[in-house]
Amino acid sequence: MRASQRLGICGLCLFLLAIPDRGSPDLESTARAAEQAGPSLHVNGARLRQTLEKLSEFGRPAGATFADGVTRLGFSEEDLAAREYVMGLMRAAGLDVRVDPAGNIFGRRAGTEDLPVLLFGSHIDSVPNGGNFDGDVGSLGAIEVIRAMNEHGVRTRHPLEVVIWTNEEGHHFGKGLFGSSAAAGLLSPDVLERRDEQGLSIADWLHRYGQDPARFLEARLPPNYFVAYLELHIEQGGILDREKIPIGVVEGIVGIHWYTCQAHGFANHAGTTPMDQRRDALAAAAKAVLAVREEVRREPGRQVGTVGYMKVEPGARNIIPARVEFPVELRDLDAAKIERIWERIQQRFQQIEREESVRISCTLLSSDRPALTDPAIRQAIRQAADSAGLRFLDLPSGAGHDAQQMARLGPVGMIFIPSRGGISHSPQEFSDWEDIARGAEVLYRTILLLDRNPPPR
Ligand code: GLV
Ligand code: MN
Ligand code: MN
Repeated sequence: MRASQRLGICGLCLFLLAIPDRGSPDLESTARAAEQAGPSLHVNGARLRQTLEKLSEFGRPAGATFADGVTRLGFSEEDLAAREYVMGLMRAAGLDVRVDPAGNIFGRRAGTEDLPVLLFGSHIDSVPNGGNFDGDVGSLGAIEVIRAMNEHGVRTRHPLEVVIWTNEEGHHFGKGLFGSSAAAGLLSPDVLERRDEQGLSIADWLHRYGQDPARFLEARLPPNYFVAYLELHIEQGGILDREKIPIGVVEGIVGIHWYTCQAHGFANHAGTTPMDQRRDALAAAAKAVLAVREEVRREPGRQVGTVGYMKVEPGARNIIPARVEFPVELRDLDAAKIERIWERIQQRFQQIEREESVRISCTLLSSDRPALTDPAIRQAIRQAADSAGLRFLDLPSGAGHDAQQMARLGPVGMIFIPSRGGISHSPQEFSDWEDIARGAEVLYRTILLLDRNPPPR
């Protein structure tokens, strides 16, 4: 086993030494030719596809097909059943499975030396009416990497751990990156008291997930737990698809602020209340939506802002709306810019309050800091892609990822694969099966490179 391991890794090293520099015409044409011929993969793309298709059944609407997408919210019966399936895959791959008090699933493969772990994985929960690739590709891709290493007799110096984070999307309970935030020590136990519309708290759900909420803080990973954290993910934007490049090397991940706002007006008769005497919460909220858009657009850059829903009360044709709840989401790689834009939005809301005689109040529900990926890990991903004959591109992530919470604890890196048409958080989300296999292959090779040369701390 050890001899074949050394041979395998040294073979990769020799190949790496033999390849020309990034960007040279030779490398470009070699990479294109290899892509057309299909690079030689250690991972099994057909097997990975089969597990992704099986996972898609958990939370699939009744009577629907794979193409109809999935609703598998974090902390739901569908998620619970999917987790059992995934834990079965992990055990079948020889991983030693444990679940932490935040519900995060870890599967460990021993290393040959007493070293911190190489941690990699993603999430399997979805948004409402989501697709079958966001999170699933990185989660099942990670398990496929383990199976491939088993088949190739590869042993690593560092222990390997596959992680499946709990409730990454955070639609349920309004806290995205839930499991990784707990693992990074960013959540206080108060969060467990948040209740959903059925009256169940996060603590209730942790019980259902077999955990003791009283031990929640023990989910925090100890210092220096991992030598590197890696996440394979679909891009969820359109850059790689447009450029026809199979691998993205993520430079950084946006910060995300979530606010919940309420416009408070006055319910009154829609037929008898003159137009100049109304306190219409929905009219004020509509102005607020446009104000968010205008203030986000006011300065140059890639920052984005979204109002994703409105809940109107009482919600009848002939009653002036008394109350509207709407969220404001702001994202950028620069935390100070998010704050600056939020200041301006609040000033606009004050102006709308005066114009409409409606009160608008907002509370911060969650804020996740932006994070940069580690330069040494980015370089390892580029080398891994080169060695597989795959072209790559450095790019930022406009989506949030558990990797940004892990960046608080140690060096992180992310590998992106193309999303067709840049569509995500939609049943139409799709990534080519070949691209998924290529992404898993780059994950496999990056892990081996980092096992030999971990990033400096
Ligand atoms: C997670 O997918 C997010 O970016 O909202
Ligand atoms: Mn998502
Ligand atoms: Mn995701």
